[in-house]
Amino acid sequence: MQHEIHPVPEQAKARAHVNNEQYLAMYEHSVRDPESFWAEHGQRISWFSPYTQVKQTSFAPGNVSIQWFADGTLNACYNCVDRHLAERADKTAIIWEGDDPSVSEEITYRQLHQEVSRFANGLKKLGVEKGDRVAIYMPMVPEAAYAMLACARIGAVHTVIFGGFSPNAIADRVNDCGVKVIITADEGRRGGKTTALKANVDEALVNDRCPTVEHVVVKKVTGGEVAFTESRDVWWEQLIKDVSNECQPTVMNAEDPLFILYTSGSTGKPKGVLHTTGGYMVWASMTHEYVFDYHEDDVYWCAADVGWITGHSYIVYGPLANGATTLIFEGLPTYPGVGRIGDVIDKHQVNILYTAPTAIRALMAKGTAAAETSKRTSLRTMGSVGEPINPEAWEWYYKVMGDSRCPIVDTWWQTETGGIMITPLPGATALKPGSATRPFFGIQPALVDAEGNELEGATEGNLIIKDSWPGQARTLWGDHDRFEQTYFSAYKNNYFTGDGARRDEDSYYWITGRVDDVLNVSGHRLGTAEIESVLVEHPAISEAAVVGYPHDLKGQGIYVYIIAMAGTEVSDELTTEVRNWVRSELSPIATPDFIHWAPDLPKTRSGKIMRRILRKIAANEFENLGDTSTLADPTVVDSLIEHRLNK
Ligand code: WTA
Repeated sequence: MQHEIHPVPEQAKARAHVNNEQYLAMYEHSVRDPESFWAEHGQRISWFSPYTQVKQTSFAPGNVSIQWFADGTLNACYNCVDRHLAERADKTAIIWEGDDPSVSEEITYRQLHQEVSRFANGLKKLGVEKGDRVAIYMPMVPEAAYAMLACARIGAVHTVIFGGFSPNAIADRVNDCGVKVIITADEGRRGGKTTALKANVDEALVNDRCPTVEHVVVKKVTGGEVAFTESRDVWWEQLIKDVSNECQPTVMNAEDPLFILYTSGSTGKPKGVLHTTGGYMVWASMTHEYVFDYHEDDVYWCAADVGWITGHSYIVYGPLANGATTLIFEGLPTYPGVGRIGDVIDKHQVNILYTAPTAIRALMAKGTAAAETSKRTSLRTMGSVGEPINPEAWEWYYKVMGDSRCPIVDTWWQTETGGIMITPLPGATALKPGSATRPFFGIQPALVDAEGNELEGATEGNLIIKDSWPGQARTLWGDHDRFEQTYFSAYKNNYFTGDGARRDEDSYYWITGRVDDVLNVSGHRLGTAEIESVLVEHPAISEAAVVGYPHDLKGQGIYVYIIAMAGTEVSDELTTEVRNWVRSELSPIATPDFIHWAPDLPKTRSGKIMRRILRKIAANEFENLGDTSTLADPTVVDSLIEHRLNK
């Protein structure tokens, strides 16, 4: 299907920070002379003492080292809160929209300052000091943002753990970075259902499983019953009861850690991606302003969860650094009905909406119902993130939600990149549905073949980035070797993204998806290795292989091949049990979509599973299985195909 090119709308051009000529000139400057470009733009952030150094970065093998603004000092919380008090004290910083459509709240910058300062003092009371790690396992309530900012204020390093993760996943993350305090809530609330957050934390900590944890702070959200360990647990309200309203922000070096965020890789356990303070703040705030064409009076809504990088950079740090009004949504786009997103837009007069293709497709499945209860006339810019957006979903988003009036910014980036990397700019970029279009300032993407040869012109290949940018992750917590190995070893002197992409005749980029063993399920990143290791812990399973396959709503579904232990009787009950096992041991987001009990797996003579074949069978592509002659037992493939066809 041929999709039309959408020229830059006049309304977007008229108000935009940059038009096409300005984009091209700024981009050219940013890559020709990064030093002077970033020396200038680094000043968008408030520094306690200014930087004289700008860029000291090396992607060289064995010597990967990334520093930006290294001798400057600042505080991220000061930038998000204090610096706005002079002019925006009574401006709404956060609009909180509850799961229940009749519940919402507005928090001004003055109130934010007070809440954050008090909670920061509370953390100090618990003995949290600069450099200590604090885990945040919370629902989408304002306190999640207060907790992040309070950590930043006192120099503690937060690690937010998505509220959908299981006790095991919490324990792994907490132990990996030696967390001192966990901040949680009694229960979370989404789509009218509750999740037992405190009970999950209790289970993660049972039998001294996480010996570094000294305290658990519990925010009362639903008022549900929770168990309480008196010496360890403390209520949020109790903790801040008699603390001062004043808390001096700690002076941080630009390269001091701001947060760790765990994300899935193609092998092993999740990786603790580390972001530092100065470069990250410059990147998050600058991309937020330019990509969404943010202006002072805009109401801005990013419908992600703070458990993911999108929530970090585009609910909390980017918008608040810019003094924006940012909307925090507790609920689901389809609850209580498909009109919810539009209703929230009308209720709070939202100007900028940022969401994920999976949500868009879920609404699209209901025709135009999602737009029938609302007018959405306030809407001006719409964003998409997390996975490739198919042109049909793009057109639906554009026409039905945006009334063919609002440019769509399809933003490509990753946990590791800290912020948006390849994206249209609303007033500058003609749009092609399904394309993330062009690089942001300072980003030099390139396409390479498997041998690392750079490919020119309109072509397809693996996506690399040739030089550093301020928002880049600096390392993996406690494992710099793995950092180098994962991102800098495949293509020497370049950052490897793990994604494939196509570049067209206009030099627009089209992300085609992961080329490694990472799945993207409803925009959530999951490692096949992680799911496999949970599967083989089940007593009925001897071996497992997990692959992704095309799924209409989720983008990718999870296809599980498992071999039963000898003597196990495979039944529908056992299949259900396996599905629930993955939900409870890892997360509901990792629930298998298709479980295939296999007699055997296709392996080479050296015992390596040929995933390429498993992917094809899962996708119902039996024609081009490629060379199967190296398999130890080629007949395995026939029996797998037969099973697939019968389901
Ligand atoms: C995918 C999310 C296509 C990609 C911010 C990347 C996308 C992974 C897009 C990172 C997009 C993200 N188009 N694919 N606009 N945005 N991706 O770390 O595969 O959760 O590598 O960061 O999501 O996922 P992560």
